[in-house]
Amino acid sequence: MDQCYANYHLYPGAGAHDDDASPREAEAGARKPPSDPTATGPHGRLGPAAPLPKETIVNRLFDPVRLGRHTLQNRLVMAPMTRSRAQFDGTPGEPAAEYYAQRASVGLIVTEGTQPSADGQGYLATPGIYTDAHVAGWRRITDAVHAKGGHVFVQLMHAGRMSHPDNTPHRRPGVAPSAIAPGAGMFTASGMQDIPVPRALATAEVRQTVQDFRHAARRAIEAGADGVEIHGANAYLIQQFFAPSANARTDAYGGSIENRARLAIEVAAAIAGEIGAERTAIRLSPGTTLWGIDEGAEGPGLYRHLVAELDGLGLAYAHVVHNGDESLLADIRKLWKGMLVLNRPGRPRADIGTDVASGLADLEAYGQMVLANPDFVARLKTGAPMNEADRASYFGGTSKGYTDYPSLRKVQAA
Ligand SMILES: Cc1cc2nc3c(=O)[nH]c(=O)nc-3n(C[C@H](O)[C@H](O)[C@H](O)COP(=O)(O)O)c2cc1C
Repeated sequence: MDQCYANYHLYPGAGAHDDDASPREAEAGARKPPSDPTATGPHGRLGPAAPLPKETIVNRLFDPVRLGRHTLQNRLVMAPMTRSRAQFDGTPGEPAAEYYAQRASVGLIVTEGTQPSADGQGYLATPGIYTDAHVAGWRRITDAVHAKGGHVFVQLMHAGRMSHPDNTPHRRPGVAPSAIAPGAGMFTASGMQDIPVPRALATAEVRQTVQDFRHAARRAIEAGADGVEIHGANAYLIQQFFAPSANARTDAYGGSIENRARLAIEVAAAIAGEIGAERTAIRLSPGTTLWGIDEGAEGPGLYRHLVAELDGLGLAYAHVVHNGDESLLADIRKLWKGMLVLNRPGRPRADIGTDVASGLADLEAYGQMVLANPDFVARLKTGAPMNEADRASYFGGTSKGYTDYPSLRKVQAA
């Protein structure tokens, strides 16, 4: 693919004006990453240099840590980020191996959202992990990351109703808990289009979806992944089941808190049974209001139930995208006995390490800063300035804004 979709407003509102957050930017949660507009750099601007974190924070953040079967180099995680650069059959693009290998000095890379089935695809040019070609493509990536001493979990993302038929291999409408449209648009090969009303999954199809996740997890392991992260966040299929605004079902997957949480628990249990709990993780974003998702007054209660149930499975980690409910976050920390990965969207650099230092999180995940800084860890350690992310090249396009962000060494040599 040589076209940069972002130029065509891949996601609604992208590039229109400052008050319009595109879905992906809304997912990123940070429309204006902290920057020093006076500093210049290879991508236009450099973020500010920051004082080195306190010694205690440095020690914990940069120390190796055990995660399941693996010892990670440090407690920093690359958050999952869709880049829409896969081939049209869902095989990861050739440059993806270099992109991920460049960032292998973080303790753990969580890959871009990857569909477990044709039904699971929502956006254009996202990778899959369910065919032999997908497995071969991902093998190149995992080998490249491992060669650099890194670790990688593939994020399994079923987009559910956040899908357009023109973006999927079978050209069918998205599937969802209920036939309720998200009320959003999506970029397709022929431009922006409204997302149509999805087809409600029959009960047997929900059970088949669990099996699709299980199959994809097996294939990810065949491709050399160290584990998989179930995408239960950001308004995609699993979170659609949580939210009464998207889930009006009357079967075992709708109605009560227990029923709405059931799919997430079944997917996690099925994958843990297939590849081992220590290679299975889940991402959650309690309280998200993206694209028509409203978890209602019962939302926090649903997460308390869900996290307690998931905790019993002994998964590798839970990854929370924090949307601001501090008391729920504190409860999740108490209910979850395993490793907790925390992502605070838009978190300033000066605060990096504080959640690990306080013990709230075991690992901290960062998205855009890692996207823009292949040597994110080295820059943190030395207090060096960060490249600023170029939002125009987030989705689709060439190596520009993908594999060409310079490392500190290159900047200093220039
Ligand atoms: C370009 C881009 C693509 C993203 N794609 C995904 C995705 O595939 N899966 C996911 O769970 N989150 C996705 N996110 C959200 C990030 O994982 C992260 O939560 C968000 O960027 C906030 O963290 P940050 O401020 O450190 O970037 C994406 C964010 C960005 C910027």
